[in-house]
Amino acid sequence: MQRRPIAAATALLSLMLAIPLSATSAATAAAAPKGARLEQTTQLPRGVRPTHYDVALVPDAAHASFAATVTISIEVQQPTNTITLNATDLAFSRVTLTQGSSVPQVGAVSIDADAQTASFKFAQPLAKGSYRLTLDYTGVIGQQAVGLFSLDYDSTSGKQRALYTQFENSDARRMIPSWDEPFYKASFTLQATVPAGQMAVSNMPAASTTVLPDGRQLVKFPATPKMSTYLLFFGLGDFERASTMAGNTEVGVITTRGGKDKAAFALEASKTILKEYNAYFGVPYPLPKLDNVAAPGRSQFFGAMENWGAIFTFEYAMLLDPAISTQSDKQNVFSIAAHEMAHQWFGDLVTMRWWDDLWLNEGFASWMESRMTAQLHPEWNTELGAVGVREGAMARDSLASTHPVVQHVDTVEQASQAFDDITYAKGESVIRMLENHVGAEAWRNGVRLYMRTHAYGNTVSDDFWSAIETASHKKVRDIAHDFTLQPGVPLITVSSAACRGSSTRVELTQGEFSRDQPNKTALRWRVPVTLQSVGSSRPVHTIVTGGKASVSVPGCGPVLVNAGQTGYYRTLYAPQQLAPLTAGFATLQPIDQIGLMADSWALGLAGLQSPANFLDLADATAPTADAQVWGTIARVFSAIHAYYKGDAARQQRFDNYAISRLAPVFGKLGWNAVTGENGTAANLREQLLVTLSNLNDKATIAEARRRYQAGAGDDAMPAPLRKAITAVVAQHADGATWDALRRSAQAEKSPMIKDRMYALLASSDDSVLAGRALELALTDEPGVTNSSAMLATVAGSHPEMAFDFALANIDKVNQRVDATSRSRYFPGLVASSSEPATIDKINAYASANLAPGSRREVDTAVGGIRYRIKVRNERLPAIDQWLTAHGK
Ligand code: BES
Ligand code: ZN
Repeated sequence: MQRRPIAAATALLSLMLAIPLSATSAATAAAAPKGARLEQTTQLPRGVRPTHYDVALVPDAAHASFAATVTISIEVQQPTNTITLNATDLAFSRVTLTQGSSVPQVGAVSIDADAQTASFKFAQPLAKGSYRLTLDYTGVIGQQAVGLFSLDYDSTSGKQRALYTQFENSDARRMIPSWDEPFYKASFTLQATVPAGQMAVSNMPAASTTVLPDGRQLVKFPATPKMSTYLLFFGLGDFERASTMAGNTEVGVITTRGGKDKAAFALEASKTILKEYNAYFGVPYPLPKLDNVAAPGRSQFFGAMENWGAIFTFEYAMLLDPAISTQSDKQNVFSIAAHEMAHQWFGDLVTMRWWDDLWLNEGFASWMESRMTAQLHPEWNTELGAVGVREGAMARDSLASTHPVVQHVDTVEQASQAFDDITYAKGESVIRMLENHVGAEAWRNGVRLYMRTHAYGNTVSDDFWSAIETASHKKVRDIAHDFTLQPGVPLITVSSAACRGSSTRVELTQGEFSRDQPNKTALRWRVPVTLQSVGSSRPVHTIVTGGKASVSVPGCGPVLVNAGQTGYYRTLYAPQQLAPLTAGFATLQPIDQIGLMADSWALGLAGLQSPANFLDLADATAPTADAQVWGTIARVFSAIHAYYKGDAARQQRFDNYAISRLAPVFGKLGWNAVTGENGTAANLREQLLVTLSNLNDKATIAEARRRYQAGAGDDAMPAPLRKAITAVVAQHADGATWDALRRSAQAEKSPMIKDRMYALLASSDDSVLAGRALELALTDEPGVTNSSAMLATVAGSHPEMAFDFALANIDKVNQRVDATSRSRYFPGLVASSSEPATIDKINAYASANLAPGSRREVDTAVGGIRYRIKVRNERLPAIDQWLTAHGK
């Protein structure tokens, strides 16, 4: 999963075309009866349930294996002689069952590897009642972030190996035989036998540490509250910890030795956020401590994980190094911590019943993350990011391969695919819209009621709507159902706006914004719409119901629809309405400028208006406009540049124009930070440097090279631009430069910088060097957790080459991408392609390798490729014409 702002950026670039309606999952999803609850899915027989797990673990990091014993307290609710639970890659040596002080019954083991289950059969049938099931077993320690895994890293004292766990969505079963579904909450006690001198970490603070006769230590952790298996955590290594108190909770950060100082900002942020969340949620954080554990390396699919009391975060997303960290790194550290900490309530305390309602975790944590970051750091202006989040959602939601926010999930692989922009970004956007509709205070009361009512339990989405309606005395369920049980993006068309005296009568109609089904019959939504006459301070709220609305808006200025941008819909203005908004563009609030630009661009690409409308808005933007407005323009310019790929002359003409607009803005910011400047200026400086590099701006590239040559000790490489300057040099490297970059990667001791250097080696525009990066990725040199990221980085600029290479080396690639994530990884490699032939290749990959129910990511990638082809053919001419008309 990538960070939201990145997803938003790509969204602005993305495109599509017509896929036959009947072939899509969206068609089926749309046909599901509204409001219908599917029966709870399970992959286990329901007659037996666990109440407590007592786990004794003996990891052997050097041999990549572990031995363990678990005693599970169970309730047999339906008589049976067989107990089935989840287990993956575990070998059982002894299985016994006792009741009270009875003589243990020995169970016969059978394993179903495909179903990821183990069954234990007993000679005597088990009557209803309480039992204890004791299992002795061994398992494996992997090198990808699933189950119990190891991360190797260089340190000043040599090679080190640390252990961590990653259990979401369905990998607790690789360490503990368990009812590994979110519904089966139980408490856990854990004890671990570990080497002397190492620190063992789990959800709870260690209760005791005993030195064993052989010198090893036995660390015991007290019982957790009732919780889902996917939230359990265990970590072990040469760690250090810093901590502080936030009320009654000890807040800690844990790093590998030597890293503690770089975690100071994360620690301070965690403390601030915890206090704020205790106040917001009404239910105080219930565990005695909350650690955030930083780990070297990376995963292709996540950066951080919300284990209860022991958040896991890869170092690059948590540590700040004054030598290289940027303003945007700092903001990311804060918002990632805010996201994982929001899960301590949305997810850990109250958990979705099944993966169908995953958005109750991810949509809500994403919304809370944005809300709290904006509230606690108003100077960062992050609330303007809401439009980017919404764009990320709409890009995906306007293709036939989309799905409703609440969806049916059957398999482990489908659960893994559910961690997507619909769940996260549409979820967040819909929550923002509904919070705005109900009012912030009433909404908060609803959230508090929901937490109080369902603490330590499981929920479905309707439990949340009930709490909001009860607490707010407002209706929200119908609108919520429209936006979460059916897929797609509403399109609000402003068909006319007429001034009558001191107000304007506005006619609205509701359709659907689809990128690849232009003739689709629009679904119906009840859409909360906010309108405002520019210059008037009085917004009007209405709900467009049954497809149309007629609204009177005070004032006679141009009418802005979706003022404040909290609505999840696109707005299409008739030309007479758009013209005055364009003319008065500079007077709009920055959030509305960004929203109007985003709509203009998306509607332009889809052929619902001219793509030149966006260029008119960008052209009318003064160099003094808000930094994030320029950020939006820079992203779209990069996208247009990419559409022109392969057509050097036309691309060059556009680039010249884009550079002529962006270079002066960059020039005003300068290469060095100005004392006291706003954080958004620092972000824009970094972003423009990267964009000008993408646009092949010779002056910028030459200056970056000059500074890089001048060296890091110099003023030439200010720390906050060090990464960006190195990235420019890497993107435009020649063979000798690439070799030099590789030598510095080899010599680098800091795992965080080393990982980044290998990613940069994969970012070359030159196809020969990109080919060398592909070869390098699959050697042992970059480290196993960097390989898949390097291929994905090459794929960003050379999708066909990276995909062909990955297919040619599929066994090696599969070793480096965990099994449930492959159905997302391979289609991700062609996410920027616009080659017709690639469609057949990715479809062939899917037919050969994917279960029919796991095709969604492939269908989305294909939809994206078709759309980009269509944009290149049908929309670029309007951009050429605009350039000609403007004398460029
Ligand atoms: N619960 C997820 C981590 C996760 C993702 C586990 C996919 C299993 C599969 C976590 O809360 C998360 O969303 N992490 C994000 C960062 C967040 C700030 C958006 C990530 O890792 O990208
Ligand atoms: Zn999350």
